[in-house]
Amino acid sequence: MHVMAGLLRDADGRVLLAQRPPGKHLAGMWEFPGGKREPGETPLAALARELREELGVTLQHAEPLVALPWNYGGHELLLDAWRVEAWIGEPRPLEGQALQWQLPALVDMAILTPADRPILQTLIEACSAA
Ligand code: CDP
Repeated sequence: MHVMAGLLRDADGRVLLAQRPPGKHLAGMWEFPGGKREPGETPLAALARELREELGVTLQHAEPLVALPWNYGGHELLLDAWRVEAWIGEPRPLEGQALQWQLPALVDMAILTPADRPILQTLIEACSAA
């Protein structure tokens, strides 16, 4: 499956993380907001829909960062991470999930869903190269 993830940064360079709700796969772990692309959707449309559904924000501009495959013991996914450069609205936890803003370099990898760890690493490297 093709899973979209959005990397939103605030004015201080902190990135937005969402906690997976109880009852879902990897409940309690933190991830970049996003979800599965539906058939017929472009990646960008899927990302925009997920950000609207989960956070209530309207995507204005995003750039692809990296797409990495992951295998959760049988279910394979491609985690397609985009830097969300501009959006409208204040992110709100519309699905009951906790949210936090954190500087990428200070995120404890252990709290992240495993597939998101190499995405964070790529973001940190991109930030330090900028
Ligand atoms: O929101 P939707 O139900 O479409 O998707 P999801 O259940 O949140 O995510 C689908 C799969 O992608 C699950 O196995 C999640 O653990 C995984 N995922 C991930 O590893 N990292 C993300 N940032 C988002 C989803």
